[in-house]
Amino acid sequence: MENKNNITVFGATGRIGKELLKLLSQAQISVTAVTRDKNKAVIFPGVVWVEADMSDKASLAAALRGSRAVFLVSSVGKDFVTQQNNVIEAAQKLGVGHLVKLSSGVADKESPLYIPRVHGEVEAFLQTSGLPYTILRANGMMQNWLGELAESVKLERKFYESTGDGKRAYVDIRDIAEVAFKVLTAPQAHNNKTHLLTSDEAVNYDQVARALSDVVGEAVTYVPISLDEAGREMKESGMPGWAVETFLAYDQAQRNGQAEFVSRAVQDILAKPARTIEDFVLDYADRFR
Ligand SMILES: NC(=O)c1ccc[n+]([C@@H]2O[C@H](COP(=O)([O-])OP(=O)(O)OC[C@H]3O[C@@H](n4cnc5c(N)ncnc54)[C@H](OP(=O)(O)O)[C@@H]3O)[C@@H](O)[C@H]2O)c1
Repeated sequence: MENKNNITVFGATGRIGKELLKLLSQAQISVTAVTRDKNKAVIFPGVVWVEADMSDKASLAAALRGSRAVFLVSSVGKDFVTQQNNVIEAAQKLGVGHLVKLSSGVADKESPLYIPRVHGEVEAFLQTSGLPYTILRANGMMQNWLGELAESVKLERKFYESTGDGKRAYVDIRDIAEVAFKVLTAPQAHNNKTHLLTSDEAVNYDQVARALSDVVGEAVTYVPISLDEAGREMKESGMPGWAVETFLAYDQAQRNGQAEFVSRAVQDILAKPARTIEDFVLDYADRFR
């Protein structure tokens, strides 16, 4: 009989995948890391890289051979549902023991918005696949601030968002990876469960600005902009219409106070508090100075 010792990590070159590889490697667990392009591979002890494309079923069978568990994350594009379902189907056929899917905090297969809808469709497929699973529904991620927001803080000590003074319990990607590690290495307690991952406190952007001012050592200001302005900027940056529509709806919900939900899952699973915005800005201080 085939020996199933590996954990296969999809999205291994991505933001969450890389953090998870680090943890699995430190724990000396043998890992198959998947990428479409091995030139992007990051070397970690115990991690073997394979090239596979989630659109190519033959490549998936090879990537999943010998796997006892799978972590499934990938960027959202037009073939997202087919690609993720291909992985679930291949894992099911090969008798993988457990699949952990990274999903959206507001996943819903009936949603009029593209990103929550496609995640919801994959969740539904997974739930009826017969494969033991855990779904990790992540809220907005703090690491999103390392792009435009950080650049803007560096340049002008200001940043621009269209969430008014609405709050959200943004989650640190390192906490998501730690939760994924726990679930992948001790799946029984999480079998066929869905966990919503947030930090322990919802915050608004004035609070983020104050935390940033403390680490930068100069006043950092949050400049509220309208949803129209935000939408214009997203379109000008070349973002596809479905993404613009989804992100504006997220901001609108936050403006209206509908995004303040907080889940205990991170602190319960990790048995420690979730990382705060203060922890985040301190750890990434150089990116904002
Ligand atoms: N940003 C947020 O606030 C937020 C909140 C909740 C949920 N999410 C979800 O988080 C996910 C993104 O996670 P992330 O930020 O860690 O990812 P990321 O950094 O954008 O990386 C995307 C990964 O997907 C892989 N990938 C894409 N298409 C693939 C294909 N056809 N075959 C194989 N691999 C493929 C890429 O691998 P290669 O390029 O190496 O092949 C890469 O490793 C999305 O599903 C998003 O909806 C995001």
